[in-house]
Amino acid sequence: MDGLYRVAGGIENHQLVALALCAALLAYVYTVLSSPLAKIPGPWYTKWTTAVLKYNMIKGRRPKWVHSLHEKYGPLVRIGPAEVSVQDPEAVQQMYAIKGEFLKGRFYKDLLPGEFENVFSTADVDYHRRLRRLLAAEFSESGLAVHRPAVDAKVQLTIQRMAEEMEERGVVDVYRWFLYMATDVIGELSFGSSFQMLETKEENQYIRDLKLVGFAGGVRSTFPFLTWVNKFVPLPVLSVGTSVRERMRGYASESLARHYRLAAGGEGAGAGAARPTLLSKLYRAAGEDALSFGELRESATVYITAGSDTTTNTLTYLVWAVCARPDVRARLLAELRALPPAFEDPDLRRLPYLDRLLTETLRLFSAAPAGLPRRVPPAGARLAGRWLPPGCTVSAQAYSMHRDPAVYPDPLRFDPDRWENPTRAMKDAFVPFGGGSRICIGLHLAKMELRLATARFFTRFPNAKISTKEGFCDEDMEADMYFLMSPKKHRCLIEVY
Ligand code: HEM
Repeated sequence: MDGLYRVAGGIENHQLVALALCAALLAYVYTVLSSPLAKIPGPWYTKWTTAVLKYNMIKGRRPKWVHSLHEKYGPLVRIGPAEVSVQDPEAVQQMYAIKGEFLKGRFYKDLLPGEFENVFSTADVDYHRRLRRLLAAEFSESGLAVHRPAVDAKVQLTIQRMAEEMEERGVVDVYRWFLYMATDVIGELSFGSSFQMLETKEENQYIRDLKLVGFAGGVRSTFPFLTWVNKFVPLPVLSVGTSVRERMRGYASESLARHYRLAAGGEGAGAGAARPTLLSKLYRAAGEDALSFGELRESATVYITAGSDTTTNTLTYLVWAVCARPDVRARLLAELRALPPAFEDPDLRRLPYLDRLLTETLRLFSAAPAGLPRRVPPAGARLAGRWLPPGCTVSAQAYSMHRDPAVYPDPLRFDPDRWENPTRAMKDAFVPFGGGSRICIGLHLAKMELRLATARFFTRFPNAKISTKEGFCDEDMEADMYFLMSPKKHRCLIEVY
């Protein structure tokens, strides 16, 4: 008899559990289907899961996948249960405004985890404002004027190294030299002495890590929980995310130590000791503004990454695109020929075609092509004609903004002339450096490097052509797109004459 009761009781419990599960499932289905995001167009699965989004992130294809959804579903598309991608010039101006109501969210902490905040990833408005205040003057166009000779010297050494490589190898890997150049420029300007890549010419661990930065960031932002677990139990592949980040921190610490030695007039202190750096005010900040070593190190880590990879890839694609287009090259050369023999950056700023060429490169080969996620503010927001609830994530990606055929006719055509008389929509949709209060702080420095390197490259090598040596082909230039993008094979072979 007892046994019979136990069986009956067991069945009842089992039914109870099944009922509870059904109720939970129904509640979940109801929540998903009645969510204010439910009416945002998108593939059915993005309502339920981030799996496809994450798959594309880790494969370095997120921008292309999101773009294919925009082509199918329009300017607003749901890419995950709580994330919407936006491709609309007006909405983008609203999301990335100076007022900065749409704050950076969790994504940035996952991308750059750590116990200290930094200027790039912090969502704390006051802290961010404080850091930007300490950096603004140095990164402005007038603040950068003092660094012009140092930047130009690195550019000229780069061109010399390219000529030497052509002599020795019969071909030049422009990606390699632009990477060394951008790395040395940011090292010298931030810490008073460079990483000496152009001098040593060695592919060291630092350069190998810079090439891995995109993938490593992709791993961290796609699998934040596993990245955390990896701190305790090393996991294959995932450890790339943590080890590259740790080593980048190490390089930042070494650079800071170098800077302090120079500032103290110690070993190796030369002209660098007296020269101001881009981070001078951060180093000197006192009182309420004072930063701990950990905070300084985090900011330094951001600069050496953000300041090298982006400029390198932009320059590499620019040279490749110009070499592929004789008409564009002819226009550029005609403009460069009119320059005084000892030209400097201020002379280059007056060249309209060079300016259009850089703008078109930043449009079609955006070094930061992926969505820049923001949280919808507490009052919710109306974007591209739809209301979005507070707390959900919205992002716009340069890759799609810059390929909107309604804004840029024939968007895949590399056409500097489209910038001769840009429309309002073209200007609004143009976001290679992000926008508003979080716009790239290094944009004036980047543009100076781009102008000088382009002008010096094509004046020295007017007949440069894309090489087919060593098996180099267009496929090498297909891009891996994580938060930042770079050519898949990390090389670009050009024969320079
Ligand atoms: C062609 C070159 C460059 C491109 C395309 C580029 C792109 C960007 C973009 C899109 C953002 C906004 C990120 C977001 O909102 O999530 C950004 C932010 C930033 N960039 Fe750049 N960047 C370039 C060069 C540089 C250089 C040379 C530096 C030098 C240090 C730099 C430092 C930074 C920093 C510190 C931020 C964070 C700004 C903030 O949140 O206040 N970037 N960059």
